[in-house]
Amino acid sequence: PPADAMRNEPDTDFDLLPNQEWVRRIFTRWKKSLPDHPEIIPLQIGNETVVCDRRHRYMDRCQNDEVCVCEMSQANTEQVNRIIDIAEKDPAGWQGTTLEERHRIMYEAANRLAEMRGDLIGCMCAVTGKTVVEGDVEVSEGIDYARFYTTEMKKFMDLADVDISPKGTVLVISPWNFPCAIPIGGIVAALAGGNTVILKPATVAAPVAWMFAKAFWDAGVPKETLQVLITDREALKVLTTAPAIKHIILTGGTDTAQNIARSNPATPLSAETGGKNVIILTASGDRDHAIMNIVASAFGNAGQKCSACSLLLVERSVYEDKNFQDKLKDAATSLKVGSVWEAGNIVGPMITNQNDKLLKALELEPGESWLVPPRFIDEKRYILAPTVKWGVKPRNYSFGTELFGPMLSVACIDDLQHGIDLVNSLDYGLTSGLQSLDENEQKLWKNSVLAGNLYINRGITGAIVNRQPFGGMKLSAFGGGIKAGGPNYCTCFVNITDKPDSK
Ligand code: ALA
Repeated sequence: PPADAMRNEPDTDFDLLPNQEWVRRIFTRWKKSLPDHPEIIPLQIGNETVVCDRRHRYMDRCQNDEVCVCEMSQANTEQVNRIIDIAEKDPAGWQGTTLEERHRIMYEAANRLAEMRGDLIGCMCAVTGKTVVEGDVEVSEGIDYARFYTTEMKKFMDLADVDISPKGTVLVISPWNFPCAIPIGGIVAALAGGNTVILKPATVAAPVAWMFAKAFWDAGVPKETLQVLITDREALKVLTTAPAIKHIILTGGTDTAQNIARSNPATPLSAETGGKNVIILTASGDRDHAIMNIVASAFGNAGQKCSACSLLLVERSVYEDKNFQDKLKDAATSLKVGSVWEAGNIVGPMITNQNDKLLKALELEPGESWLVPPRFIDEKRYILAPTVKWGVKPRNYSFGTELFGPMLSVACIDDLQHGIDLVNSLDYGLTSGLQSLDENEQKLWKNSVLAGNLYINRGITGAIVNRQPFGGMKLSAFGGGIKAGGPNYCTCFVNITDKPDSK
């Protein structure tokens, strides 16, 4: 593999007929149950696998919860302790490997991830209700991470002329909404530095992690080096407070990060957490272009992205323009909604029908109205069509609450400065967008808005490894806000020492 070059993996071109055929084959394979794999995913403890009595069942939301995709074994406290012990002792000697070896193995893992793209997508569709297109992008991102971090580590060592050594064992806790890319990013960042890794993926999406772990094992990462588990709350506490864990990488809720930090203040925690992301549209913005970006950012993955646009602030003259309102409404209602097993559907099911924050926001407060009213299209209320709430005021629930669903709140602003003040008054600071063709406005916004990822005249989701390092500020980040997919991220998980001076 190249030592210093990084090329981003291209996504699949779904306009090509052979790729459409390929999607149909994925659907046929995955619509029934986990293909070519055991129906019960065992628990892995080092090189050993066991089928546990306690298991999580995965039901296909797009088939009314009637098809069981698979079950997955859950570790108990004793098993968690054995897993920690193996990780700490590092029997396979991963901590003694060279960066060159790890670089080669990560490139091999990237190749294997590329080979299993179809099955990873199928698994995401079945288990999390992700669309093929959204799943495809995630696989590319995972491949990018696999190539990126050891490359970065090499660059860092050469430039800084330092030595690195592993911290020991890193615990990676990953979310359900990006069940492929985000855990891969975490494990590769930790493995790059020679650490052993325990991956605790979100239970509701964990079969995806079990699938991609095979790419790493087959590429040469020993099973004792990368262990994957799901567990209950009690055993999770054991894991997150174990002295053997030298660093925790978390992507998840702000409350989860706060709980971990409280229960284990001694262990460094690098966390990317929530967001309440805003796009500002000023009178100088290209409205048609803006609407396209707003709709893609608000409703992609059914709004379940920490980066999603959840609040739109519109300058008064545009806000009051009936033509703009109609166009935004048309754009939101034109998105195809439904089962992810039908190619072309853009908004699929949510991971849960019990998202209390979203359900609360689906009620109107005085002064609010619906530009596009909420409409569930399935009996079990997993699939919510894009919804747009109008006239939301800063004091209202929907204004500052992260909702994680396909609902966009719209509010009126007097001018750009008013919009910036409102953005900066929010608790979070992850992504932010400006739709304006005025260079002075762009400059003002760029220099004063408090968010980690800033996007002008484009969507605000879909950061690409190495091009848009991802991470926020305020309640969106813990542990210094170092950016995933950016320079030096992986150096957080190693000890750095000066080379002995022999000059
Ligand atoms: N990194 C993801 C995005 O940019 C969350 O949308």
